[in-house]
Amino acid sequence: MTGLRSYVDSDENSKIIHGDCLQALHLVDDASVDLVFADPPYNIGKQFGDFKDSWETDAAYASWCESWLALCIRKLKRSGSLFVMSSTQAIPYLDIWLRSRIEVRSRIVWHYDSSGVQAKSRFGSMYEPILHCVKDPQESVFNADDIKVEARTGAVRKLIDYRKDVPEPYSTTKVPGNVWYFPRVRYRMPEYENHPTQKPEALLERIIRTSTNAGDLVLDPFGGSFTTCAVAKRLGRRSIGIEAQEEYVKIGLRRLGIATHLDGKELVAPAKNTERRNANGVKSFLIKDPDAQGALFRA
Ligand SMILES: C[S@@+](CC[C@H](N)C(=O)[O-])C[C@H]1O[C@@H](n2cnc3c(N)ncnc32)[C@H](O)[C@@H]1O
Repeated sequence: MTGLRSYVDSDENSKIIHGDCLQALHLVDDASVDLVFADPPYNIGKQFGDFKDSWETDAAYASWCESWLALCIRKLKRSGSLFVMSSTQAIPYLDIWLRSRIEVRSRIVWHYDSSGVQAKSRFGSMYEPILHCVKDPQESVFNADDIKVEARTGAVRKLIDYRKDVPEPYSTTKVPGNVWYFPRVRYRMPEYENHPTQKPEALLERIIRTSTNAGDLVLDPFGGSFTTCAVAKRLGRRSIGIEAQEEYVKIGLRRLGIATHLDGKELVAPAKNTERRNANGVKSFLIKDPDAQGALFRA
């Protein structure tokens, strides 16, 4: 295997492989992984380091995705789960290919707040699709109790379920539906890293809690800023993250506490300016809003 470099933390629970996932996935044992979270380039022309996220045709992009998806499925245990993201226009190709190889259990919409730029000639893009797949529906892990959210009925008084033999109040919590609202990662948030498509920790937390238990192994073939591995570590899971660009591998090494230096250079978090002045020169500082899932607001 050429051009691959691996790094592990001292307790060997978090591993990073620097290289192309089509090569690096061969270093992962077959049937060893509990959860794969794959957030590949979407074929929408983004720049990731020296890599331009653009394929000649939709078919060429789908065919590339199929090669790493086939490997990911092979790495999953029988009880394992696969969450795959892509663009709204590309996900149907992946859905059709996947459903003859693995069970697509849920089609999730990650809905978020609008960016500053507003669409003028079409409906603005406010979501990204996620496919939730399981290898064997009888054996797969789904930790319903670990991900419950408040069940809002809209009623002022407690609603009673009279269909039960002994009527009882409706449950106040429920498993979330398939439309998930999480704010996108913004510059001012503490979790922000210098990566163009960083996913929110809250999104990964729900996915990891749903499909794994403590000590399980999580695999992310497109590590990016290594959100998946960072959340896996915080939740006591093991992880393997793969990333082709060295500048993002450096983020992962620091974020996972694997290294403080690489090739003699210190790995530092993005320096952020948390002070702003308004047009009159009055200072405002950013403080954490406890109700805004990690978002910051001005005081
Ligand atoms: C959509 S981003 C992942 C973002 C990540 N989920 C996060 O929260 O930061 C896709 C990543 O895949 C990387 N990548 C692109 N092609 C790759 C390949 N063939 N093998 C491994 N990584 C690749 C890109 O450099 C980019 O960082």
